[in-house]
Amino acid sequence: MVLIAPSILSADFGRLREEVEAIEKAGADMLHCDIMDGHYVPNLTFGPGVLQSIRPYTKLDFDVHLMVKKPDKMLEWFAKAGADILTVHAEACPHLDRTLAEIRALGLKAGVSLNPATSEEVLAYVLDKINQVLVMTVNPGFGGQSFIPAQLAKISRIKEMVKGRDIKIEVDGGINPLTAAECTAAGADILVAGTAVFAGGDYKKNIDALR
Ligand code: DX5
Ligand code: ZN
Repeated sequence: MVLIAPSILSADFGRLREEVEAIEKAGADMLHCDIMDGHYVPNLTFGPGVLQSIRPYTKLDFDVHLMVKKPDKMLEWFAKAGADILTVHAEACPHLDRTLAEIRALGLKAGVSLNPATSEEVLAYVLDKINQVLVMTVNPGFGGQSFIPAQLAKISRIKEMVKGRDIKIEVDGGINPLTAAECTAAGADILVAGTAVFAGGDYKKNIDALR
């Protein structure tokens, strides 16, 4: 069964606690937290302090997506703030193998994210150190962008690469009921969605529609 990971990027930050509680009640499987540093991507969101302050209000796993230029120095901050899964961008990690080992040493699950132009080949020699692969189906930085169909082939190729291993494939960006179906058909296990979950305010209906 496919898992739904709403991105709190689309939540009302002025009511973050209520939003997180509502998302859990609506049937979300985990909480996707988009961390942007204004350098790796042209947008700035929130840091470990915000995550730590919402941690007491939900049992959902924090699926932390680091869109930052220098993730290595931040791994421990997010581990302490309550992250369960830490995903770094392959493009931002010159020593990806070491970074993944550090995430695991902190007791967390490790993920690798790939921008739309990045080949899945970068995963080939770190498969034993990852729990999930995050395929960006838009260029990272903003919610509400259109899905890039060329990523479907990448999802299928990764599915082939991870055969026989316990590695989940997650997709992020432009996911709606239509693109969700295409991604799951290609092999996606986890769907991240911001706009499609938060639009209109009926979170349960929106999450059910994605499933
Ligand atoms: C984009 C973020 C996504 C974003 C998805 O850089 O990584 O998680 O919130 O938003 P939607 O679902 O609106 O495309
Ligand atoms: Zn994300």
